[in-house]
Amino acid sequence: GNYTFTIIKPCAVQSGHIGAILGDIADAGFRVAALKFVRLNKKEAQEFYKIHEERPFYGELVDFMTSGPIVVAVLEKEGAVEGFRSLIGSTNPKEAAPDTIRAKYAESIGRNAIHGSDSDDNAKIEASFFFSRNEIFNSEGGFVENLNAAQVAS
Ligand code: GTP
Ligand code: MG
Repeated sequence: GNYTFTIIKPCAVQSGHIGAILGDIADAGFRVAALKFVRLNKKEAQEFYKIHEERPFYGELVDFMTSGPIVVAVLEKEGAVEGFRSLIGSTNPKEAAPDTIRAKYAESIGRNAIHGSDSDDNAKIEASFFFSRNEIFNSEGGFVENLNAAQVAS
């Protein structure tokens, strides 16, 4: 697919890295299709991370993700999901390749600076959680009707 969804997490916002991270994302060839600055409440974070409900760190994850504002965005590039996961690096910053966003800005496996969707289906579900259809734009400034069907303009 051509779209992915990302979150600049509270730790990276708090430490002043929004601009640098968005710069790295642009330098890697991603176009911003949607962008906002928000703070999740507990119920919203529990719902967004429902897939991790049974994992031991779920409570910690929800508390962390509600601890401050986050930047949420939809990004466009050919092969977006896979390309973006390479750009951000491994979940644990100790294992993240040099020059990845997590290697540069993450503090720990929990406070790991950024999220990237792990599949086209999840990119669509996650983008829809934060953005309505009139908040996601294609490269010509029109609305993106369907993230999975959309093609990158040539
Ligand atoms: P995301 O892009 O944020 O989804 O990360 P990921 O796909 O690399 O990892 P995964 O989906 O498995 O886990 C989701 C998030 O849970 C991670 O980004 C971490 O912030 C957090 N997480 C994962 N493992 C641990 C852990 O062992 N301890 C804590 N505190 N958090 C964890
Ligand atoms: Mg994940």
